[in-house]
Amino acid sequence: MASKTFSMKFFSLLILSFVIMKMAIAGDPDILFDFIAPPNVTIDGNFFTFTGMSALVGADPPTGFEVLKASLAEFPALNGQSVSIAVLEFGGGSTNPPHTHPRSAELLFLIDGTLQVGFVDTTNKLFTQTLQTSDIFVFLKGLVHFQYNSANATALAVSAFGSANAGLVSLPNTLFNTSIADNVLALSFKTDFATIQHLKAGLAPKP
Ligand SMILES: *[C@@H]1O[C@H](CO)[C@@H](O)[C@H](O)[C@H]1NC(C)=O
Ligand SMILES: *[C@@H]1O[C@H](CO)[C@@H](O)[C@H](O)[C@H]1NC(C)=O
Ligand SMILES: *[C@@H]1O[C@H](CO)[C@@H](O)[C@H](O)[C@H]1NC(C)=O
Repeated sequence: MASKTFSMKFFSLLILSFVIMKMAIAGDPDILFDFIAPPNVTIDGNFFTFTGMSALVGADPPTGFEVLKASLAEFPALNGQSVSIAVLEFGGGSTNPPHTHPRSAELLFLIDGTLQVGFVDTTNKLFTQTLQTSDIFVFLKGLVHFQYNSANATALAVSAFGSANAGLVSLPNTLFNTSIADNVLALSFKTDFATIQHLKAGLAPKP
């Protein structure tokens, strides 16, 4: 009886691990239709058009780092299509802090300006580059990466993703703007509570 329960557990774990492996190697799941229509939406050319980037036309130059996305949340027609895009604007001296996209690589095309970029692989090796206008850089799927505009002038980039919903895990926010206990963070970063609380205070919503 005990061994039967064990083998059933083992069998379920085996199935689960295949499911996880499949999820890990696939892009967005394939859909069985041309597109997925949300309820009560008229399907015509407008459904397949995203106009949100019009905010960029004639806009003031960015002061810090600003991002405009056309992903699943903003553009429902992308559901099941495994693509999305973002426009990244960097004011002089601004940074897009270290973060990962759990579901996609990122292909960044620098349209204007210069941009320092980098990612860290799973062996903890850092790869960096100073991109010039027209350069394209790939941030590998799931790996921690950042962008920094060290120049005074604005930098403008367009990033393409191989998922409609690449996801964003921002390290500062994930680590110091959630409720992970101060002692866990202090031990992990080999520092004291005061330092952790200082870091947390810097990211907390301003009252
Ligand atoms: C969608 O349309 C159906 C039928 O026309 C209606 O019953 C339902 O309330 C609508 N749902 C929303 C969220 O508008
Ligand atoms: C940066 O840009 C500002 C505004 O255009 C200008 O006043 C300033 O001199 C520039 N600084 C440098 C170091 O180029
Ligand atoms: C910290 O989290 C709060 C609540 O989720 C959010 O409103 C705020 O924007 C976050 N801070 C930063 C710097 O992202």
